[in-house]
Amino acid sequence: MDQSERDRLEWLRHEVARHNRLYHENDAPEISDSEFDALFRELKALEAAHPEVAPTTAVGGAVKRGLPEHRHRAPMLSLDNAFSPEELSTWDERNRRSLGVDEVQYSAELKYDGMSLSLIYEGGQLVTAATRGDGATGELVTENAKTVAGIPHTIPLAGSLEVRGEVLMSKATFTRLNAARAESGQQLFVNPRNAAAGAMRQLDPRLVAERHLEFFAYGQGDGEPIAPTQTESLARLAEFGFARPEIGTCVGSLETVLAFVERVQGERANLPFGIDGVVVKVNSREQQARLGGTARGPRWAMAYKFPAEQAFTLLREIGLQVGRTGVVTPVAELEPVFVGGVMVSRATLHNFDDLKLRNVRAGDKVIVQRAGDVIPEVVGAVLSERDPAAPEPQPPTNCPECGTELTQTGVFLRCPNAGCPAQTTGALIHFASRGALDIEGLGEKLVVRLVNEELLGDLASVFELATHRERLQNMDGLGALSVGKVLDNIEARRTPPLPKFLYGLGIRQVGERTSLDLARAFGTLDGLTLATEQELLAVPDIGPITAREIAQWFSSDDNKVLLARFQSLGVSPLAEAKPEGGQFTGMTFVFTGSLERMTRDEAEAMVIARGGKAAGSVSAKTSVVVAGPGAGSKLAKAEQLGLRIQTEEEFLASIDESV
Ligand code: IVH
Repeated sequence: MDQSERDRLEWLRHEVARHNRLYHENDAPEISDSEFDALFRELKALEAAHPEVAPTTAVGGAVKRGLPEHRHRAPMLSLDNAFSPEELSTWDERNRRSLGVDEVQYSAELKYDGMSLSLIYEGGQLVTAATRGDGATGELVTENAKTVAGIPHTIPLAGSLEVRGEVLMSKATFTRLNAARAESGQQLFVNPRNAAAGAMRQLDPRLVAERHLEFFAYGQGDGEPIAPTQTESLARLAEFGFARPEIGTCVGSLETVLAFVERVQGERANLPFGIDGVVVKVNSREQQARLGGTARGPRWAMAYKFPAEQAFTLLREIGLQVGRTGVVTPVAELEPVFVGGVMVSRATLHNFDDLKLRNVRAGDKVIVQRAGDVIPEVVGAVLSERDPAAPEPQPPTNCPECGTELTQTGVFLRCPNAGCPAQTTGALIHFASRGALDIEGLGEKLVVRLVNEELLGDLASVFELATHRERLQNMDGLGALSVGKVLDNIEARRTPPLPKFLYGLGIRQVGERTSLDLARAFGTLDGLTLATEQELLAVPDIGPITAREIAQWFSSDDNKVLLARFQSLGVSPLAEAKPEGGQFTGMTFVFTGSLERMTRDEAEAMVIARGGKAAGSVSAKTSVVVAGPGAGSKLAKAEQLGLRIQTEEEFLASIDESV
């Protein structure tokens, strides 16, 4: 081994040990799991190439000082991972072959992203709770566990039982905790998992109680089986008083499992706690025993992993962005990183107050998060790696686009200049975007150029572009063909569907869904223009803030001029059919859960065609809630409000077929 290899070996060992401590003892990792794996793999490869050096063996949670150790009755193992339906299907094939059956029944449940815990009950009493530690030995946290919701202190079972599960911190508690930590200048927790793990290992149970942790059991450890299947085991644990997640579990063929995976993926962002996948298990205990396991984990279970929602990367610069409403937000320009299933190179920093709380500076190594469809955000920085000379970011005093002095409303900095080119450009880009007028070819780059050339101004000016055909054709890189196409696409939108047009206007609080609700409720643009705040409030799903924004928008003189300009340019949004005297006139329907004989859009169309309204959320204004399998909180709310609830079958049976 030469000197450079020796140096590298030493560095790798040092880093692996350091990151191990940060992860397992301090609950504050500074690199992602895959970065850690890469370091560890390199270390192992270097050691394997040099048998003269002693290999590194211990990787895993070292035991933190202060908590007594606990040796697990049976090791707490890990799971194999699948990242695609194909990988799951390969695993299923192997199971079928090993068991000699045509179909295996599986049970699938959430893969909770928390800290695993082993609970031992003797004679019905909770006597021991221990963390996973390195899998063989964990830490004793019995008194702490007693403060966790979802862990019964006694269970109606004589004899001995080991229950295993996961301790979690809800997203809401995590946000509250971090806000309080930021307030008092403490380092923020990266995610709820680390916060939960940190909390569980507090030495004082009273401090644990303040963290509002919860526990979900996922199975049994060592000992006599409490049921012949995983599904029945979970049901028994629920009878014993263990909490169950609202989304439930699923049991069935691989196909059923894949449908469940899809549903969970869709719900992930809305769940109150973090998950990182679905765990699929062979349901029968007897089959589990036949499949057995390896030193790593059981062959009968597989984790179907979802893309990580967090990653570390370099924050190159803090830029400024002026939105279409004039709000100036700090934006993180990032070293591109794969997170939440996509490459991310920009992320919002929300506002300058928030930036200060999160304590982030240009040049920092930061944690980026992208959950569901939510826009990527910077969660915080790795403070230990900060360049001490990095200056604290300062909020701007003037608009970076037009130089106008900014005003402050609450936490938001706003450019008050309605003619600010950034606002004009933002509004036009939104107007032409897919969810609005969907004008192909009129994208961000062209809009910016045309605003600079003063060929575009207000939204109506889009429909005047045709009068500048020649100038457009002579612009660099455009040419007759592409100009012709864009102008044709604009022409085709002179009679846009009303909801698309409304959405395109960019009225605050009015997204695609509300635009659709407005169009359905008022039928025409004229109808909506004349609507009072009171009439707007009567529309299902429209609350007082939105109603006020809409009423104000239509009463502004500038907007009246804009609408008149659209009219004089022959732009007339297509009215929505508003059936009078239909079967469902005056009624509002909400569809929830999965529908089997029609899509949600089809179901809503049936209601609308019969004069009714379809809403996205349940309120006292709702007339009927149609609930399919998997219906959750909306159904619960409907029951609470005593609303009429129908199954899909009942709804279909009630339909007036003559329409
Ligand atoms: S079954 C042999 N079910 O994931 C391990 N584990 O990656 C059998 N986890 O250490 C575990 N949710 O802490 C199982 N529904 C679930 C789970 C789950 C989260 C954790 C568990 C385990 C890790 C493996």
